[in-house]
Amino acid sequence: MKQRDHNEIPFLIGVLGGTITTEDTDRINANSSPTPFGEPSAALQKVDIGQANVAFMARHGLPHAIAPHDINYRANLWTLYEASVSAIVAMYAVGAIRNDLAIGDIVIPDQIVDYTWGREGSFNATLGLKHFDFSEPFSPVVRQHLLSSAKESGHSVHSTATYGCTQGPRLETSAEIERLRRDGCDLVGMTAMPEAALARELNIPFGGICLIVNAAAGRGDGPIRHQEIGLAISQNSANLLDIVGRAARALRDSFR
Ligand code: HPA
Repeated sequence: MKQRDHNEIPFLIGVLGGTITTEDTDRINANSSPTPFGEPSAALQKVDIGQANVAFMARHGLPHAIAPHDINYRANLWTLYEASVSAIVAMYAVGAIRNDLAIGDIVIPDQIVDYTWGREGSFNATLGLKHFDFSEPFSPVVRQHLLSSAKESGHSVHSTATYGCTQGPRLETSAEIERLRRDGCDLVGMTAMPEAALARELNIPFGGICLIVNAAAGRGDGPIRHQEIGLAISQNSANLLDIVGRAARALRDSFR
């Protein structure tokens, strides 16, 4: 198995993006390298986000074609681990459940409820681990950097939320969203799990930042339209990336 070598790596912070991504495609490797767990979604890319140079993994592939339930989460996380990232910031486009969340809002989640099934969600057999604490699924250190970077940039964010992770690829029924609300979920997406748990198994501090791109099923004024999601992303990604770039730079400096 390849050894981690910090000297070879010019950057230290990993960023996972999906629907929200960056335009910069200065690739480290044109082809993705296989891992013991199979092929990652894409080659790891050297990308500038604001003033931070980060290792970017496009979780839905390049071009965007891999559905949430088909993503090889283990290969993606292993690729970031082998690149020696010191921390990971994961970006998510999500639907709003909580009433005070509006399209375009940015949220730093602090909890997860996992509704996914059948995804390869552990390195246990390889690492020889059994159980591990996951009471706080997002690293308080990464969360703090995201919150202070938001403050510094002047973008207001919601500082706590429970992310309900559904299986997809279809969106939810209105009744499913009501159930998620009763369970305490504030927003809904399809990709935070098993990403967050795999990062914990690898001991990589992991934080998430969400952009609200639609009202969850039954919470808006009609069906969820792709066009509206696209519009919310194009209008608000720059703010989110501004926060991520600042947080990545601050995190990198804190690990130096
Ligand atoms: N549900 C699940 N995942 C999503 C949604 C949603 O409404 N919006 C963006 N990702």
